[in-house]
Amino acid sequence: MSDKSSNQMWGGRFAAGPDAIMEAINASIGFDKRMAAQDIAGSRAHAAMLAAQGIVIPSDAEAMREGLLTVLSEIETGEFAFSTALEDIHMNVEARLKEVIGEPAGRLHTGRSRNDQVATDFRLWVRDQLDAASSGLTALIRALLVQAEAGADWVMPGFTHLQTAQPVTWGHHMMAYVEMFARDLSRVEDARKRMNESPLGAAALAGTSFPIDRHMTAEALGFYRPMANSLDAVSDRDFALEFLSVASISAMHLSRFAEELVIWSSAQFRFVTLSDRFSTGSSIMPQKKNPDAAELIRAKIGRIFGANVALMMVMKGLPLAYSKDMQEDKEQVFDAADNWMLALAAMEGMVKDMTGNRANLEAAASAGFSTATDLADWLVRTLDLPFREAHHVTGSLVAMAERKGCDLPDLSLDDMQSVHAAITSDVFDVLGVHNSVASRTSYGGTAPVRVREQIARWKEVLG
Ligand code: ARG
Repeated sequence: MSDKSSNQMWGGRFAAGPDAIMEAINASIGFDKRMAAQDIAGSRAHAAMLAAQGIVIPSDAEAMREGLLTVLSEIETGEFAFSTALEDIHMNVEARLKEVIGEPAGRLHTGRSRNDQVATDFRLWVRDQLDAASSGLTALIRALLVQAEAGADWVMPGFTHLQTAQPVTWGHHMMAYVEMFARDLSRVEDARKRMNESPLGAAALAGTSFPIDRHMTAEALGFYRPMANSLDAVSDRDFALEFLSVASISAMHLSRFAEELVIWSSAQFRFVTLSDRFSTGSSIMPQKKNPDAAELIRAKIGRIFGANVALMMVMKGLPLAYSKDMQEDKEQVFDAADNWMLALAAMEGMVKDMTGNRANLEAAASAGFSTATDLADWLVRTLDLPFREAHHVTGSLVAMAERKGCDLPDLSLDDMQSVHAAITSDVFDVLGVHNSVASRTSYGGTAPVRVREQIARWKEVLG
């Protein structure tokens, strides 16, 4: 070891310690301490492998593995004194291990580098977050299924351009989000499969001349296999980018749903009532109940997609293999992960607690000539009109209703026949919103019978 003013780990090469600014820009311990458990798990697996391969003696490996547990418990209880001078979690742990077990600690870094170490730790951390996302998404899907089942046959307006289009069922609308979050779930599962390979033992970039067993450490850490190319192993951050892009797409889905809840809970819509537990009041307007949780969920996509873009920019143009630029990966991923998990949990809570206002939904479903397409379809089916002509006749009837200030079912048969003489009173059957949704039985359609099939299918998939 060299004199105290230079670095404990590489002081041999250095005469002077770093400038304070250098230390500030260089250190990652402020954030990468979140990977302490992963770092220690990786080191324990590495130590066991070194002994199994005869690279260190078993008693040294045992001392390392025990000592690392002591360090872990110090970190968990908060007694551990993190040092910025020691730069990152890897060197903080190793330095403390030296204090705890003495000389054998110096043998832990045989056949590895911080480059494969950080790649391993970070993969393990991201893998845990993928698992947490799976749980969060599954819980949210379950909450949506409960809502869908309760209101499988409630009618509400379906919109295009946020203009009334055709009546749909509440259950159908909830199930649309089930589809979206289920795709997120399958993206999470895909990403996990692809990323679950071990960089450990790639060493600095070229592998090592020590007879290490990378399969052994990979297996001990729950990876399927070691990564096949040491240069790639230390310089790849695709797994973090995939995490961020899956998170971005999912946050976009959350944002769309949140936006609907903001609109639906307004006094103008009153489609849903959000619970007090997920709302806030106003400090000045006593009547206010604000959908803050929904608004914040709506906004989370900003920082999550921002993290995705930021890391993509960090990685672009980096020559192989490791560059210090890559240390900028963690804060983005940590922040995105925290906020994605929070948004998932908040959305699950809101969905569980919210009340769909059935009567308001139905009243709104009937407004805005929402069954005009049903009328046009009736003209085609019953009077054998070409669809284009039926569209035109219906358009005239809508204009007439608009002039009279009423809805389509309120027109008289005389009114109808003044536009097309062959129309009969049977037409009124298709103008009701319940008949409208019940008739849309095509696969994937809004009819309650189809919606219930989908609910049953998803319940079976989730088990
Ligand atoms: N703190 C570093 C990081 O997060 C660890 C790897 C450092 N490797 C190196 N060659 N300086 O990327």
